[in-house]
Amino acid sequence: MKTSILTSASLSLLYLFSFVQSIENDHLQSLLSDPKFKPNTLGNVIPGRYIIEFDQSFHGSSLDFVNDIESDIVKSYPTINSRIKMSIAHDYDSDPSIFRGISISLQQLEDQSQFNKRDENDMHIQALENTLLRKILQQNRVKHIYPVVEIQRPKVENLITHNIKAYDFDDRNNVTPAIPQLLLDENGPSLPFSHTMTQVDKVVSDLKLKGKGVVVGIIDSGIDYRHPAFGGGFGPGFQVRYGYDLVGSRFNSRNPYSRRQSETPLDDCLDGNGHGTHVAGIIAANDKFFNFTGVAPEVTLGAWRVFGCDGTTSNDLVIKALISAHEAGCDVINLSLGGPSNWAEDPTALIANRISEKGSIVIAAAGNDGAKGAFYISSPGSGLSNIAVASIDNVYNLQQSAVTEEGSEYPYLLSSTTKTFPAGQLVNYINEESNADACFGTRPDNDLRGKIALVQRGKCTFDEKADIVRKNGGAGIVVYDNQDETIFKAEALTIKIPMASVTLMAGKELKRLINTNTRYKDGLHIEFRTALTPHKVSSGNRMSRFSSVGPLYDMTMKPDFAGPGGFIFSTLPISNGGYGMLSGTSMAAPYIAGAYALYIQAHGREKSANYLKEHFQNYAKPALQGDDIDTPIRQGAGLIQLFDTINQPIHVSPGHISFNDTVNYKAQNLTICNPGNDTVTFKIMHNPSLAVAPFNTRTQGFAPLQPPHYAPDNVQAVLNISESFITIGPGQTKKVRFEVAKVLGIARAEVYPMYGGYIKFSPVNSTTAKSIHVPYIGISGSLAKLPIFDVKFPRFMVINGTKLFEHKLQDGTISTGFIIDRSNRSSSFVTTMFRLLTGSAMIKTEVLDQNLNQIGMFTYEEYLTRNTLEDLDFIFAQRWNGTMIPNGIENLGDSVSLKPGVYHLRWKGLKLMSDPKNPDSWETRVSPPVLIRN
Ligand SMILES: *[C@@H]1O[C@H](CO)[C@@H](O)[C@H](O)[C@H]1NC(C)=O
Ligand SMILES: *[C@@H]1O[C@H](CO)[C@@H](O)[C@H](O)[C@H]1NC(C)=O
Ligand SMILES: *[C@@H]1O[C@H](CO)[C@@H](O)[C@H](O)[C@H]1NC(C)=O
Ligand SMILES: *[C@@H]1O[C@H](CO)[C@@H](O)[C@H](O)[C@H]1NC(C)=O
Ligand SMILES: *[C@@H]1O[C@H](CO)[C@@H](O)[C@H](O)[C@H]1NC(C)=O
Ligand SMILES: *[C@@H]1O[C@H](CO)[C@@H](O)[C@H](O)[C@H]1NC(C)=O
Repeated sequence: MKTSILTSASLSLLYLFSFVQSIENDHLQSLLSDPKFKPNTLGNVIPGRYIIEFDQSFHGSSLDFVNDIESDIVKSYPTINSRIKMSIAHDYDSDPSIFRGISISLQQLEDQSQFNKRDENDMHIQALENTLLRKILQQNRVKHIYPVVEIQRPKVENLITHNIKAYDFDDRNNVTPAIPQLLLDENGPSLPFSHTMTQVDKVVSDLKLKGKGVVVGIIDSGIDYRHPAFGGGFGPGFQVRYGYDLVGSRFNSRNPYSRRQSETPLDDCLDGNGHGTHVAGIIAANDKFFNFTGVAPEVTLGAWRVFGCDGTTSNDLVIKALISAHEAGCDVINLSLGGPSNWAEDPTALIANRISEKGSIVIAAAGNDGAKGAFYISSPGSGLSNIAVASIDNVYNLQQSAVTEEGSEYPYLLSSTTKTFPAGQLVNYINEESNADACFGTRPDNDLRGKIALVQRGKCTFDEKADIVRKNGGAGIVVYDNQDETIFKAEALTIKIPMASVTLMAGKELKRLINTNTRYKDGLHIEFRTALTPHKVSSGNRMSRFSSVGPLYDMTMKPDFAGPGGFIFSTLPISNGGYGMLSGTSMAAPYIAGAYALYIQAHGREKSANYLKEHFQNYAKPALQGDDIDTPIRQGAGLIQLFDTINQPIHVSPGHISFNDTVNYKAQNLTICNPGNDTVTFKIMHNPSLAVAPFNTRTQGFAPLQPPHYAPDNVQAVLNISESFITIGPGQTKKVRFEVAKVLGIARAEVYPMYGGYIKFSPVNSTTAKSIHVPYIGISGSLAKLPIFDVKFPRFMVINGTKLFEHKLQDGTISTGFIIDRSNRSSSFVTTMFRLLTGSAMIKTEVLDQNLNQIGMFTYEEYLTRNTLEDLDFIFAQRWNGTMIPNGIENLGDSVSLKPGVYHLRWKGLKLMSDPKNPDSWETRVSPPVLIRN
């Protein structure tokens, strides 16, 4: 049974302060509340930038729209044009059933002559911007306004990275091959090692599919198409045929002036991580010289570059790229990017979803946030028809090997201070197993002079161990791990002898060998080879630890299924050497995109996105965790098995089942249909998976466990299944019913176990039919009872400038209140900190008078994700400046400034699975009194 460390959520106030400052944003206070205004994660909002979605009834042009607004505004505010300029950043003039609208940028004009002080000017501009937004919101041709939000660069996981110098530029800038430091045995595993896991090897050898005629779009950091794996060029006649660069190399979404659009999506960054090129190679590399091919080497690619060499991008650009990729005719669009959301309603997920349903299937990375706990899937993968791809570790990786005189090979890593490690005689520092090995106060059991010492990790620093080995005359040090994990890198700052690290298994084996064999009394000869060779990965075929965990907040199962994403070899830009290994759900998604291309080549484009998803789920293979089946909330249906998916006609729908929470529980049906020519009998079985305990119910309310724990393995559902065998003839369709009889093991488990498993249809007496698995999930307990806010949140924050007062409440008690002093800028607002333990479909701030009667509303935000224990998303902050929209005119009203007096805010979070019209559905806190002074 796997256990993880409980992390404490309590942080000192000081700690909070330091990053509240960075999250806070003057702009937040101006996010006006209007039912059409749809802000999401506050921390990522880019000031002055909005996406306006037109109502379907509006048929005019974007320019008409902007001109109308401007003339309308100039009528009421004649001077506004000299202060603030509204410009169209992007025009989404596409199919109205996908998305029509614009993204705008509100720019402050330079002329500030009439203002004495800069502050005064800022506040004035802010007020004008608010007025402008209000005017836009009042148009009935506007359906929604979303803020533009920043999207982080996709991170690759730093498991082990080795770049390989396979190509270089010569003097004339031509690409020339180099001799790669890579040794592959002809009879050994072949790159990229993962095709045997997914049956892609069999699809290539037996079906000869290579993706010809299928178009795959990649929205990423561009492609180095000068690479021989992509034919060396861009445009008609080349493999990378469609797309463009939306941003340029210097782009950063926080600075709109850094954007330079250009016609070619070339990744020519000198020090980038080559993300887009790696993704493209996984899908489509076709390198005749290096003999490396991606999943679908004959597909046509499109590349839409939305990341520069570093820095972030934004949702308005991703939406623009999605629409452009769809219009270019992409059958599949890969997005190895996104941001935490866990809601299908996130705007990028929603628009991507419409595009999937129109025939350009969106395949997205589930996210690399496995350490942040359950309910944390990235958008756009969270969209219902999009695919959220989880990651499974490859079975081999490439590493350098230390080779003994006996011929055994062990992967090793050098510390960054070690350039080369000369061969030598390996001896044990001490003969016993001990993690105090070579720490201060220990003495070596053997003569180390001129030898390499084998030492276990632990107890003291690597610096100390290396120093003690050196003081005893040692020429080098090999540290082995003290836990059974993938290989680690030992790092030391002051080290003066070479240092390398090996795994626990390797260390134990070497130690035993030296101890038990008298031939090695004076040391075992060991040589550190520099060429990379394949090594088995101990976590191969298992879920990658970084892979984000679902399900969505409405208990829809996500991720959908998994591809190989840990230790993935693929192309890199020429300036990065041409090849290398990266890890992430970013690598798993393009594998699936390539697999979809092969499916589409075999069967055409008739089937819907949902049919394809179900069919891939039907034939996927659930991965194990220890001896148990891993949970569907991490792996979805499991690792795809492409040969069966392409070849098997029998289809089960839906492809996954949610029994929801206890309150919303419903029995579920599966429909099996046989479009094939053979009658098949299936035995229907139930294979429970490990359950997950998503919450820490002991300390912090119901804080999500980061990472989630597995519940004890006796926590599992007992299912009643309407049939134990089913025979289904050609053309027949049959239904089977499933209900949860009970969930075992709960008494001893944590509260809210998320149970799950796989319903297996196992063919009886058939030589051709294959097993089908349908993942199911459910949770014991009522999600509506989960607290939204962490204890002591929301609350006002005391920052520089905050003024307090003592207020006598109705019951006579004295309470400390906060002052909004309009005569002083730094005291002209109060700041609320929110910390959400659970995401919420709506967070609202209402305004109450002194007697706690509601008189209006300040803001609301929709579909917020929860906070985590990370600095940058520990809280959301929001400012209130003493304005509100009075009751009754929420849809149309301008916000008004409150008269001097005492008020309160009421913070409300809508609970999961709850009806917003029912007052009990809201978790509510009333703020301390706020005194407004002019
Ligand atoms: C690619 O394969 C061919 C034919 O097997 C072989 O001659 C060539 O050396 C290989 N190239 C590399 C870089 O390994
Ligand atoms: C779970 O129940 C809620 C409330 O009825 C519903 O809105 C939601 O769609 C259900 N989830 C699934 C996956 O069916
Ligand atoms: C399952 O099928 C039964 C019988 O046809 C039907 O009454 C029930 O509504 C179905 N359940 C669901 C969740 O679709
Ligand atoms: C079923 O048989 C027909 C006629 O022999 C054939 O054309 C078709 O491809 C077969 N279908 C499958 C799924 O094997
Ligand atoms: C499968 O085949 C075995 C042996 O041929 C036979 O005894 C058994 O009844 C068959 N089972 C079914 C479900 O057809
Ligand atoms: C708060 O104010 C003090 C004194 O004016 C100043 O030294 C300090 O830097 C301020 N802190 C922040 C975070 O602005």
